[in-house]
Amino acid sequence: MTAQIPALSDRQAWKKLTAHYQEIRGLHLRQMFADNPQRGEQMSTEAVGLFLDYSKNRITDETLKLLVELAEESGLRAKIDAMFGGEKINLTEDRAVLHVALRAPRGAAITVDGENVVPEVHAVLDRMTDFANRVRSGAWKGHTGKRIVNIVNIGIGGSDLGPVMAYEALKHYCQRDLTFRFVSNVDGTDFAEAVVDLDPEETLFIVASKTFTTLETMTNANTAREWSLAAFGGDASSVAKHFVAVSTNAEKVTEFGIDTANMFGFWDWVGGRYSMDSSIGLSTMLAIGPEGFLEMLAGFHEMDEHFRTAPFSQNLPVLMGLLSIWYNDFFGAETVAVLPYDQYLKRFPAYLQQLSMESNGKYITVEGKRVDYATGPILFGEPGTNGQHSFYQLIHQGTRLIPCDFIAFGKSLNPLGRHHDMLQANVFAQAEALAFGKTAEEVKAEGTADWLVPHRVFEGNRPSNVLLAESLTPALLGKLVALYEHSVFTQGIIWNIDSFDQWGVELGKKLAQRIIPELESSEQPELQHDSSTNNLIRIYRKMKGM
Ligand code: F6P
Repeated sequence: MTAQIPALSDRQAWKKLTAHYQEIRGLHLRQMFADNPQRGEQMSTEAVGLFLDYSKNRITDETLKLLVELAEESGLRAKIDAMFGGEKINLTEDRAVLHVALRAPRGAAITVDGENVVPEVHAVLDRMTDFANRVRSGAWKGHTGKRIVNIVNIGIGGSDLGPVMAYEALKHYCQRDLTFRFVSNVDGTDFAEAVVDLDPEETLFIVASKTFTTLETMTNANTAREWSLAAFGGDASSVAKHFVAVSTNAEKVTEFGIDTANMFGFWDWVGGRYSMDSSIGLSTMLAIGPEGFLEMLAGFHEMDEHFRTAPFSQNLPVLMGLLSIWYNDFFGAETVAVLPYDQYLKRFPAYLQQLSMESNGKYITVEGKRVDYATGPILFGEPGTNGQHSFYQLIHQGTRLIPCDFIAFGKSLNPLGRHHDMLQANVFAQAEALAFGKTAEEVKAEGTADWLVPHRVFEGNRPSNVLLAESLTPALLGKLVALYEHSVFTQGIIWNIDSFDQWGVELGKKLAQRIIPELESSEQPELQHDSSTNNLIRIYRKMKGM
């Protein structure tokens, strides 16, 4: 492993950045662009088919130099090598972090505990391929001999957000005679609405859960089994035709009644939020076909290689991670907006919320000390242009600094008249308006009444990145996801936190387990919570008529 790294505020580059921030915090992007007419070209870079314009950030060459120094001083290079080398960098769970092995080409070698895991990865991919081909061609029949035309993925968190995001993102490439639904919430409405118009004889459930113990997923899976069995007169042999599992826990899968022949495995070195390219992506493969899925994996791998080998100053995930640190820790920005200008990416921000916030929402360093700096920002977003008519007002004229990532495409998958030019014009216009704003002089020159001028001034100096790619393909989606995965990794290394555990979700889960019987018991339960929780439980029971 790497040599001991000083605490963040003791690192030389951090100290230099702190001083440098004081010098440049007042600089306006208007000035920076006026001073250097080539800034737009100079502060942009392209790799693996993704163009990143980061010129509209509140940085100078010196800022970039210091941020790169920070990455180096933080041991990022060694940590990247440790991750790709299969070291157990998820310290609190004593696990390797090898989502990169999920997209390593056949023949590559990545070892964990002395064992090359790449052949296992491809063995599972081959089984998934065979299964997907049978379902897609109609060769896989339901219990009564009907073709499967509905696929319902049951999972939550990483076992849902990746699959649903990828399904939406790649709909253009989907086999359209198959219907896909995603059930995640323990709210019965989610299941009820997902199957309301489905015929059980034509429906296949994928129960997707790394642990196969998650309350929501197991509850929904049991409900699905009842729903399915009811159509087959309770014949349990139907389960083999209508249920498959995706999990690391063969024992629990068997206990549930799914034959392990219908289970697609993965490994403890794949974190839930990093699993959409493992067998958790079975629904994606069913939707876009094995070839498309392999293209997506190849895209992931291209970005992995770029991240692993490119110098930090031209490394897209490193640059984006460092810029995020710059705003989060020096400008005190608390949020970041991800704004894809492609309707197919409508679930991308939701996917990134788990990726980023579950990874870096930590206040304890890997050594178990409380941090004295801000870590993971709050991430939100909506596809453009919808967001413009909703929350962009606050980004333009609110009191907070919200760095934005715009994601744009050169070509539409649905070219329709002038739509695409209009859509993409909005990306460039928004980034321009945020950066340069509109001065009082400009507003006055338009003949605006004096009293209205302050309302119509845009102070600008609001930072953004623009990511531009030719078109949204499976490979591009892989690259985009890997870009954010590695950006999150870069930030976690600098903050010295474990980006791969999620202890913070445990307490609420445990407390819910204690409260469920208190809501259900026919006896008046003896409540020993705080007075607010006790009261809420009592009122709820009354509303239920208990
Ligand atoms: O709620 C936390 C979490 O563990 C996520 O990290 C994970 O993606 C999700 O629950 C689902 O877990 P599983 O795939 O084991 O059902």
